[in-house]
Amino acid sequence: MSDNGLFLTLEGIDGAGKSSHLDALEALFRAQGREVVRTREPGGTPLAETLRELILDQPMDPLTESLLVFAARRDHIAQVIEPALARGDVVLCDRFTDATFAYQGAGRGFDEAVLSTLEQWVQAEAGRAAPLQPHITLWFDLAPGIAAQRLAGARVPDKFEAQPVEFFSRVAQGYAARAAADANRFVRIDASQARDQVWQQVETALVARGVLNRGSAR
Ligand code: TYD
Repeated sequence: MSDNGLFLTLEGIDGAGKSSHLDALEALFRAQGREVVRTREPGGTPLAETLRELILDQPMDPLTESLLVFAARRDHIAQVIEPALARGDVVLCDRFTDATFAYQGAGRGFDEAVLSTLEQWVQAEAGRAAPLQPHITLWFDLAPGIAAQRLAGARVPDKFEAQPVEFFSRVAQGYAARAAADANRFVRIDASQARDQVWQQVETALVARGVLNRGSAR
């Protein structure tokens, strides 16, 4: 992998507002001369986007769901993420494996040891000692009750968005546990603040990590 490829992921429960910062993040990196590949999970390739429709629409047991999510991820890594990092690009990815631990693991109660095994298999790469992981994960942390209010009436909910607030409480705990286990990778963003203040936190964190100069994307 090229030394200066950057794998940046955004995470958080539905309604936390992470996706609304993707445009500004992309603009900021481009303004600083970086090539940016903007992508998402589940999805990011034709095959993975087809799997996404099934995952978000069809009822299925948690093992089936986990296998499909990781199948989509494998294709995404091989087709998009690894080549982009090898070119030295910024990969800006809306969700990755932390979402699987939060949604399928904590939310749906699926065995996290199995998820860890799948993570090792799917994110392993020949010639690399450790499985692929994001360099930085921006975790948009918001109380599930507030996120539910923000989502209410916004659009027709998908399978996950239609879940009760208790489900999102478990998902939020799942994110907190992943963040505690990998504190160097995670940046907690207080997503309860106004949008501009949330953006300030994002920009400040990336400057502090040395991956951005303080810019003027907006
Ligand atoms: P999301 O990223 O919120 O996209 P949109 O803004 O278009 O709704 O939707 C993806 C959904 O998929 C979200 O509810 C979380 C869920 N998901 C999982 O359950 N497991 C995973 O591994 C991933 C990546 C997402």
